[in-house]
Amino acid sequence: MISTVSVTPFSDQKPGTSGLRKAVGVFQQPHYAETFIQSVFDVLADKAGAVLVIGGDGRFLNREVIGKAVRMAAANGFARVLIGRGGILSTPAASHVIRLNGALGGLILSASHNPGGPDGDFGIKYNIANGGPAPESVTGAIHARSLVLDRYLTLEGGADIDLETLGETRVGDMVVEIIDPVAAYADLMETLFDFDAIRAHRARGFTLSFDAMSAVTGPYAHEILERRLGFTPGSVVNGVPLEDFGGHHPDPNIVHARELYDRMMGPDAPDFGAASDGDGDRNLVIGRGRFVAPSDALAILAANAHLAPGYARGLAGVARSMPTSAAVDRVAAALDIPLHETPTGWKFFGNLLDAGQVTLCGEESAGAGSDHVREKDGLWAVLLWLNILAVRGVSVDELIQEHWRRFGRNYYVRHDYEGVSSEGADALMAALRGRLAELPGQRHGDLVIASADDFAYVDPVDGSVSEGQGLRILFEGGSRVVYRLSGTGTSGATLRVYIERYEPADGVLDADPAEALSALVEAGKAIAGIERFTGRTMPDVAT
Ligand code: G1P
Ligand code: ZN
Repeated sequence: MISTVSVTPFSDQKPGTSGLRKAVGVFQQPHYAETFIQSVFDVLADKAGAVLVIGGDGRFLNREVIGKAVRMAAANGFARVLIGRGGILSTPAASHVIRLNGALGGLILSASHNPGGPDGDFGIKYNIANGGPAPESVTGAIHARSLVLDRYLTLEGGADIDLETLGETRVGDMVVEIIDPVAAYADLMETLFDFDAIRAHRARGFTLSFDAMSAVTGPYAHEILERRLGFTPGSVVNGVPLEDFGGHHPDPNIVHARELYDRMMGPDAPDFGAASDGDGDRNLVIGRGRFVAPSDALAILAANAHLAPGYARGLAGVARSMPTSAAVDRVAAALDIPLHETPTGWKFFGNLLDAGQVTLCGEESAGAGSDHVREKDGLWAVLLWLNILAVRGVSVDELIQEHWRRFGRNYYVRHDYEGVSSEGADALMAALRGRLAELPGQRHGDLVIASADDFAYVDPVDGSVSEGQGLRILFEGGSRVVYRLSGTGTSGATLRVYIERYEPADGVLDADPAEALSALVEAGKAIAGIERFTGRTMPDVAT
């Protein structure tokens, strides 16, 4: 029986973000998740008779919210929901399942790389029929709807949904199908990459370690890396998704994936190390003794993607988020293909991918992907690396050195000032924005500011405009400092400062990035008055 539950209109959605992400305690409030889900359903004109995909990264609350979403989907007229067994679907796998099944869209339950468990975070985001995060037109409509929403629809009574058994059951008039969360995704990977070449490389003695960080990629990595590619059992570590990610922060960077990093720098390092995040869309790649910065990784993948069968035709174009380093720009120039610079966030790649204007895209925040789905994809990136290394027969270190010798190196670091007061962070950005016009010509030691602007993006496909996407300070000689506030944090504000300096191919290519960037870092602190506005002299995280 369909019941109508009255609620008070309200919204917690951050403007411009593709979903709702909050502390678990917030999500546990009565009707909280339901209000967001109903706001999504209410803006979907074609839901009657449609297919909806539901899955998550297995974090605490995942199953409970799936239960709510299923009953609401039935009450709202969906014909069928597809759910990953155990409630599991990595974000890229969910994107694939939506596309493969012609679904209207999907609910992805995750707070990505944020910690999980009762004291961690939870999140819900809606992806559209192309498999990608809802664009601003849709998230804006969801937000507007939640501000007037006074009821939600759900189905009362009935048994709990069994998430463990593959196959079909019914909830009301709606079919609930529990699907294998891994199979279709793993099959897709086999169409893109030369598994035989990777197996042969393994047989020649190539070894790897993949840290799933007790998050969603465990089952995918076990299946693809160990079972299909034959890497020794144990090559995948922390491979069982846990509701609290084992108490860890499932963010694959050198801070949170420290164990892997230390191992890769130590005497017993395998040839290749990698990790992914809570929901499986990010990736970290470390060769034996060689960390690969994500911006460099994007450039290297773009330069070598044609070695994988799925990209043998070459790339239509590449895209990177604005704060990502310009390393990939040089590759695009050499390949004579278009390079697009978009605002931060995967949703900005969607139109370019749909229109066939780009094949490969990525962000400095450990995200890379291609037109195979409409999300960034951690395991996909790992497999592309493995395919390239197998064909080239070189080490990660050799590949990266060769790349720098050809294209030069974009020294790069991102500084995060976490949990600063929103007032302080907003004031810093407002003050800097107000002073942009007077900055050109200003000197900081040897550095001279050439230009400064507030990044705005006009989508070349639909003409939509996104303003206020980050403050950019460009120095003479091409170095750059970029400031923006995080849109994904759940407490206070996070100020991100992105620092980059280009060193030509005949310059010093193997310096310590911290040293290579120290003058720029200081200039960046001074220009924005970081200490004055935030009280901080040092970032919390440098990646
Ligand atoms: C961060 C990253 C951004 C990424 C997003 C989702 O967003 O910086 O590149 O797309 O997470 O994974 P931010 O917190 O900076 O808004
Ligand atoms: Zn993620």
